[in-house]
Amino acid sequence: MNNDIEKVLFTEDQINQRLDELAATLTEKYQDKCPVLVTVMTGAMVFSSDLMRRLNFKLNVDYVDVSSYGTEAASGGEVRLIQDLSAGIKGRDVLIVEDIIDSGHTLKYLNKLFAQRGANSIKICAFLDKPDRREVDVKADYVGYEVPNEFIVGYGLDYNNLYRNLPYLGILKRSVYAN
Ligand code: IMP
Ligand code: MG
Repeated sequence: MNNDIEKVLFTEDQINQRLDELAATLTEKYQDKCPVLVTVMTGAMVFSSDLMRRLNFKLNVDYVDVSSYGTEAASGGEVRLIQDLSAGIKGRDVLIVEDIIDSGHTLKYLNKLFAQRGANSIKICAFLDKPDRREVDVKADYVGYEVPNEFIVGYGLDYNNLYRNLPYLGILKRSVYAN
């Protein structure tokens, strides 16, 4: 598995340190709010579970599963809701936890959906941001790292549902997906 990685972008130690910083910021912002933490499955599962254990305030946990058409190294523009939230969010403060903002379609879709349901506030916490790839105007409120326009795997992020279990973040060798 490690042989398929071109370069390590962030080690486990670096990620842990960044999570501490993000969690400190969020703990300050959400102290008296009891938000709903909405994890976007499956990519954000690892990030979200590590992050939430560092958050020192009351929160609810929920999740959605979405897919953008085009399953491989490029995501399509159309987003489909595969698994909806288990509870209503009317009047709630929603914090969306996502692995990476790429084209922006996924988060634009979720933002609109949650706004239609009457959320009091909607904020985005994205572990990674690939600003060069943006096709629609979406900005994360909290970002772990900005990353280059490369295909990134590990720490929850996959290629063909592989590499999610790598404890670090790496750039996938092009030879793995370009053939
Ligand atoms: P969007 O293009 O912003 O809608 O992002 C869609 C989804 O594509 C993200 O939630 C990720 O799951 C996936 N994705 C985008 N870029 C990468 C990448 O470099 N590695 C792994 N998954 C990615
Ligand atoms: Mg995703």
